[in-house]
Amino acid sequence: MRERLEQLNKEALEELCHIGNSQLVQDLRVKYLGKKGRLTEILRGMGKLSAEERPIIGQLANTVRENIEQKLEEVKVAIEKKEIEAKLQRESLDVTLPGRPIQVGNRHPLTLVIEQIEDVFLGMGFTVAEGFEVEQDYYNFEALNLPKDHPARDMQDSFYITEEILMRTHTSPVQARTMEKMEGEVPVKIICPGRVYRRDNDDATHSHVFTQIEGLMVGENVRMSDLKGVLLEFAQQMFGENAGIRLRPSFFPFTEPSAEVDVTCMCGGEGCKICKNTGWIEVLGSGMVHPRVLEMAGYDSEKYTGFAFGLGVERIAMKKYDIDDIRQFYTNDLRFLKQFNRV
Ligand code: PHE
Repeated sequence: MRERLEQLNKEALEELCHIGNSQLVQDLRVKYLGKKGRLTEILRGMGKLSAEERPIIGQLANTVRENIEQKLEEVKVAIEKKEIEAKLQRESLDVTLPGRPIQVGNRHPLTLVIEQIEDVFLGMGFTVAEGFEVEQDYYNFEALNLPKDHPARDMQDSFYITEEILMRTHTSPVQARTMEKMEGEVPVKIICPGRVYRRDNDDATHSHVFTQIEGLMVGENVRMSDLKGVLLEFAQQMFGENAGIRLRPSFFPFTEPSAEVDVTCMCGGEGCKICKNTGWIEVLGSGMVHPRVLEMAGYDSEKYTGFAFGLGVERIAMKKYDIDDIRQFYTNDLRFLKQFNRV
């Protein structure tokens, strides 16, 4: 048995010296050391040995196993190293080839401006509310004091889907929805950015789809002066601390009194193309929430008052970035959009 073990040791080490790939190493491991391998086969004869011989042969068998294992490991490492080297030689890599740049997107100018405006109002304690672009006639008009056949509906030519459903013409329906949801709780202090739709012929200053941000504040003792203060703060944060605002009397069915609000033009009042030489740019409609609108949404108009405004995001973006055609925002010309990479 001793001779058989020594013979096995010799043969295995010999054979291992002559193999050339890593799969064969595995095969030889099975052949010599596997469950049905040569070593196991020899050790099956252990039972026939005398008590004195058994530990000696056992020890020898262990040494043989260790020798073979060690050699297997050595050969395996050597072969793998060789294989990697061969592979590296085969697959040469030309690191001088120019890379393929990945196009990085950037935010749309309207998104940038919406985020800036949101920041300003969040800083004044407003929260952002969401509404629906496809809206019910009730919220878009009726709940805003514009019953069916009211002549003021003509101010906003609409895309109707059915008799009762339309593409919202302004973000004001969010006022009605928010108040309804808040069930008479105050204060209500929200802004709502979103797309609105009106039937209009597109040109440099008109688009049938555009973006508004609605603002609404309802509570006790909310006054017109609060509206002025909030809008002045907004104008100065957006356009610099020298910016001023001007309120002109106007009419909206859902506010009383109502005002159009202008912001001083960047030309500093000297007159330019953007302000059409007036020194002012009209940016929003506003007013004190009409008592009927409060009542319809479940608020006691004797106890609570509110102000609301709706501003045009495109107007503000055009003023801020000196853009002279509103259609630029919607035609997705990359040459235009890429300019806003880092503003
Ligand atoms: N919804 C009005 C418009 O689109 C703007 C507005 C909002 C006016 C809130 C007053 C109060 O023209």
